[in-house]
Amino acid sequence: MLTCAAMGFPRRVAPEQLDALAAQDAAAIQSRRDLQRLNVMMGQPAAIARPLAAHAAARPIRRLIDLGGGDGTLLLQVARRLASCYRGVQGVVVDRHRLVSPRTREAFAALGWGLEAATADAFEWLRCAPPQAGTVVIANLFLHHLLEAPLGALLAQVAAQAELFVACEPRRSRFTLGASGLVGWIGCNAVTRHDATTSVRAGFTDRELSRLWPAGEDWRTEEGPTGLFSHSFVASRRGG
Ligand SMILES: C[S@@+](CC[C@H](N)C(=O)[O-])C[C@H]1O[C@@H](n2cnc3c(N)ncnc32)[C@H](O)[C@@H]1O
Repeated sequence: MLTCAAMGFPRRVAPEQLDALAAQDAAAIQSRRDLQRLNVMMGQPAAIARPLAAHAAARPIRRLIDLGGGDGTLLLQVARRLASCYRGVQGVVVDRHRLVSPRTREAFAALGWGLEAATADAFEWLRCAPPQAGTVVIANLFLHHLLEAPLGALLAQVAAQAELFVACEPRRSRFTLGASGLVGWIGCNAVTRHDATTSVRAGFTDRELSRLWPAGEDWRTEEGPTGLFSHSFVASRRGG
């Protein structure tokens, strides 16, 4: 018998408060700090770094693009996990807001990585970016902002650029929804409390992202739960 916690519910995308706030708004700054803590607690950096390390063992990563990458902290945490083996990678953080601090830039430089902070819409940036061999794209807590049609269009753009794509998003489950209602207990502010439950309702389950990924023999996709609260999607180009 299915318990209530195991039963699913339909995906619902709704505006998130953080997206509407200016970068320098005090509540936005606090909410982005909350996000840094939540990413670590949810195991997002490790979940993204694992498939990247496996890929990099066979094929070099020259450019690592983080779509909706916020302040670049998540990409830095991923880079730190890879940097002992891979230097000279060009990190690219694409976000609508200009959020990457000089300190984050210095941390990338200390790893021997480059960093480009592109203040741009992800769709527009992908449309204009010149293709480059060794490109890997990641997205953390970003895809769930998008309705199905734009999400499918974004994934098609990613597939045209990347050799590997890794996304880590909220898992749409009763359990994660319940947990998202408790983030106030660890000191998250009102913006984060609102966006946490909104994100889970817009999150993913089953093979929802695989179904939107461009069909074809070129790609191998893996999708499913990771950690307690997250949903992972990995698409890797065959051969090459
Ligand atoms: C929930 S935050 C996640 C930030 C970052 N990935 C992290 O894990 O800390 C979502 C981010 O997506 C950005 N964003 C939303 N829509 C976007 C778009 N169309 N193009 C670029 N960035 C976008 C927001 O500015 C925000 O920084």
